[in-house]
Amino acid sequence: MKFFLDTANLDKIVYFTSLGLVDGVTTNPSLIAKEGKEFLPTIKEILKIVNGPVSVEAIGSSSIEMIKEAREFSKLAKNVVVKIPFTKEGIKATQILSKENIKVNMTLIFSASQALIAAKSGASYVSPFIGRLDDISFEGIELIEQIKTIFDNYNFKTEIIVASVRSPKHVVEAAEIGADIATIPPEVLELMFGHPLTDVGIKKFMKDWANAFST
Ligand code: E4P
Repeated sequence: MKFFLDTANLDKIVYFTSLGLVDGVTTNPSLIAKEGKEFLPTIKEILKIVNGPVSVEAIGSSSIEMIKEAREFSKLAKNVVVKIPFTKEGIKATQILSKENIKVNMTLIFSASQALIAAKSGASYVSPFIGRLDDISFEGIELIEQIKTIFDNYNFKTEIIVASVRSPKHVVEAAEIGADIATIPPEVLELMFGHPLTDVGIKKFMKDWANAFST
């Protein structure tokens, strides 16, 4: 399973890259705004750090605007992926961009039918938002199961990016299903390391070693 980092925070991207855990990065307008920095310079900095796919979201609402933005973004670097929201205009844009070999990450996916349309339209990635589904009392992870089955049935090359991840449990459940990618907020990736028994175990090993061999 590939780990993408769901953030525009440069320090976090550098930190987790140094741990060898960043296969890509996803951003969105909210994540960029949270950093309080200019949009394009931030994206350029991320692209300097990350070799894998970096998703950059188009904000236009018509297909013409989205296509224009996508073409501009794709000039920044080879690993740019354009995030396009799931609308009819977004679908039109995706069909054109995929023919130009510009990779599209179709975002704001909340149903299997939307994922199927996105895949048929040539999206390289779909981003189903499982946390936001959980928020409204749906089982977000069930959507991943459905999409995985559909994509496997028809050998779609479209990769599933499990998005809106809120906990290590989300990542583990997505991995059990066989989702291609989880895009993980830094706080959640940090939590994935922890287990109290590991800490207790290390302390005990160190103590026993010191007792046995210290002079
Ligand atoms: C990533 O592609 C999404 O934009 C992100 O995971 C959304 O997460 P949120 O629901 O926590 O805002």
